Amino acid sequence: MDYQKILESRYAVRNFDENKVISDEVLNELLSIIPLAPSAVNHQSPRVYVIKSSLGLNNINELCTCLSKANTVLMFTYNKDEEWKNPFDNKYTSGQQDVSILATMLMLKAVDLGLGSCWVNFFDNEKVKSTFRLPSEEEVVLLMPIGYMSEDSEPNPIMHKKRKELPLMVRYL
Ligand SMILES: Cc1cc2nc3c(=O)[nH]c(=O)nc-3n(C[C@H](O)[C@H](O)[C@H](O)COP(=O)(O)O)c2cc1C
Repeated sequence: MDYQKILESRYAVRNFDENKVISDEVLNELLSIIPLAPSAVNHQSPRVYVIKSSLGLNNINELCTCLSKANTVLMFTYNKDEEWKNPFDNKYTSGQQDVSILATMLMLKAVDLGLGSCWVNFFDNEKVKSTFRLPSEEEVVLLMPIGYMSEDSEPNPIMHKKRKELPLMVRYL
């Protein structure tokens, strides 16, 4: 699909077709782009967990109310030992940024594959980490329900349409 069309057709999907499961072939194609994502000093700190077993989905749905009954949920983490630390100020580290660019790339690739997704932060990160027994050096950043949209799925009329004018967001210095 044309890149501009991908950008314009993407929206936060909250209404998935529960009966349509992503095939292994499509899922593998989606995940295959993971190594293409840039990361600070190419440290490649992100990790992606695919939750699609009934047990995994039950657990994650107990911890997060925003997953819209998707039958696949991606969980994005980063490894604290691998993220880049800015030597000018140690509080600036790259893990969240490394994950964000990867998640955005996956979100757009999903559109290209006819899938919808939603970026979800509304959950207790530490509870997710402990429930899934993630390694202590990993931090959870976001969850991404992903799947085929219901026929009546639509962008949220208030949140999707409300866009700031370009001059409010771009300044020339
Ligand atoms: C960092 C971030 C966190 C978000 N967290 C949630 C969330 O927890 N639940 C949810 O339903 N949507 C969440 N969203 C989706 C936004 O609400 C949505 O992207 C925004 O309203 C713009 O709408 P659009 O994506 O349809 O253009 C999140 C998006 C971002 C980028």
